[in-house]
Amino acid sequence: MKLNKRLLVLSEMVTKPYQLVWDCCCDHGLLGIKILSDGLVKQVNFVDLVPEIITNLDNKLSRFGHKLPVDCQWQTFCQDVALLSLDNTLEKSHADTKELVIISGVGGELMLSMLSRLMEPYSGKNIDFLLCPVNHTYQLREGLIKLNFKLIEERLVTDNDRSYELLLINQTAQQPLSLLGECLWVNESESQLYLQKLIEHYQRRESDQTSTDCVNHAVLTAYQNLYQSRYA
Ligand SMILES: C[S@@+](CC[C@H](N)C(=O)[O-])C[C@H]1O[C@@H](n2cnc3c(N)ncnc32)[C@H](O)[C@@H]1O
Repeated sequence: MKLNKRLLVLSEMVTKPYQLVWDCCCDHGLLGIKILSDGLVKQVNFVDLVPEIITNLDNKLSRFGHKLPVDCQWQTFCQDVALLSLDNTLEKSHADTKELVIISGVGGELMLSMLSRLMEPYSGKNIDFLLCPVNHTYQLREGLIKLNFKLIEERLVTDNDRSYELLLINQTAQQPLSLLGECLWVNESESQLYLQKLIEHYQRRESDQTSTDCVNHAVLTAYQNLYQSRYA
């Protein structure tokens, strides 16, 4: 099973023996399968909205499941991530976080709308979330801050000439989550190039006469100021 770098780094960010990991928007299921084969987590639930995807994954898991660690378990769910049944007994007082929800490979705006609906009954619960949006990370971060999420870890990964912000968050964590990603701008060349691409993206949107996006200018200015402070 060949995993791309993005999925590999996501799997490396799963460092706790969670009782349950949800691989949401799982598609091929490669991330959840890698997490099960690593052996730290014993149960992964795979979730996708598309019936054919879940049928194919069921077939794949029944053909190759015997290659996974003997004590591991999985279930598949064909449903909207926004309607997941999480464990709502996970209070702040729990010493260890028992559940991890991974949402990877969808746009930031879609991810935020899923999370806003999903979190309604679970607000304030001790649940970890590992996110890999494919775009609109500023807007996603803004929404996550409003939902009271805090940061555990964030990383930038570049795979096939494209960079991704990976966020491990929990509403009961302590460290504030920032709009721009304070911890991302460490690897000079990789992060500088990513920041340049973000600025170019927002400059193109600003010059697009048909764009009605009024937050665009504020986001552009924020990224430009960040560039000045880190790399100019
Ligand atoms: C590009 S794949 C991501 C695959 C993998 N997670 C990754 O990061 O490479 C996006 C998947 O999200 C699924 N999806 C989109 N909206 C969803 C929703 N509301 N609930 C569940 N799955 C959804 C799609 O069916 C699709 O299979």
